[in-house]
Amino acid sequence: MDMTRRDMLKNVGIAAGTLAVLGDQAMAQNAAQPPPPTGSPLAMSPPEKYTLGPLPYAYNALAPSIGEQTLRIHHDKHHAKYVQDLNSTLEKLHEAMAAGHRDQMDHLATLAAFNGSGHLLHSLYWENMKPDGGGKPVGDVAACIERDFGPPEAFTAAFAAMAGQIRGSGWAVLAWEPLGRRLVVCGVEQHQNEIFAGSKPLLVCDVWEHAYYLDYQNERPRYVETFLGKLVNWDVVNRRLSAAQA
Ligand SMILES: [Fe+2]
Repeated sequence: MDMTRRDMLKNVGIAAGTLAVLGDQAMAQNAAQPPPPTGSPLAMSPPEKYTLGPLPYAYNALAPSIGEQTLRIHHDKHHAKYVQDLNSTLEKLHEAMAAGHRDQMDHLATLAAFNGSGHLLHSLYWENMKPDGGGKPVGDVAACIERDFGPPEAFTAAFAAMAGQIRGSGWAVLAWEPLGRRLVVCGVEQHQNEIFAGSKPLLVCDVWEHAYYLDYQNERPRYVETFLGKLVNWDVVNRRLSAAQA
């Protein structure tokens, strides 16, 4: 992600810490961008467009844990819509700022935070899963989990409990909290609310119904159990932890 977009999102309320570990694909897409001008990007130039990256595996790669139809709809329809709405909202926000329509800016900033966080969390979600993943944590994150939660089973129970208690739509997130330099588990409401500000998400699990309903109907706990047991890509989580601690 280039600085123009990063600064833009900071201005509309997305925690800066979450941007530091934006999905590798999304980062790579924007790596060649020139540095932005100084000052307020929203006021000086129209926002650049965000793009939807491909899944890092085939649509049927996670079946039967997550079926092909779920992945197609989730990525190609839901995630795509967040990207589309983020771009259109930022355009309107830029226009409102340029025209001095401050009365529209609060609402548009809220929409931008929702859609921008949705784009970011989905990018992280695809990448922190893989076929034949899951099981006990490995590497540095395993040591941090042991220190901050106890045995792996205690972390699994905490993460599953958080995923289960989110009312409505949201995300269970294992994050690096930089003040205490420790791991925390957060329950993010929708895409943008109730995350520990400045914390850096390492492992995210989408518990919106669109993520699991075709495969698990109303059995969210069984979906979360499968996510932890069979899908987590701990190598990616370790890479994010290393970047977060740097
Ligand atoms: Fe989703």
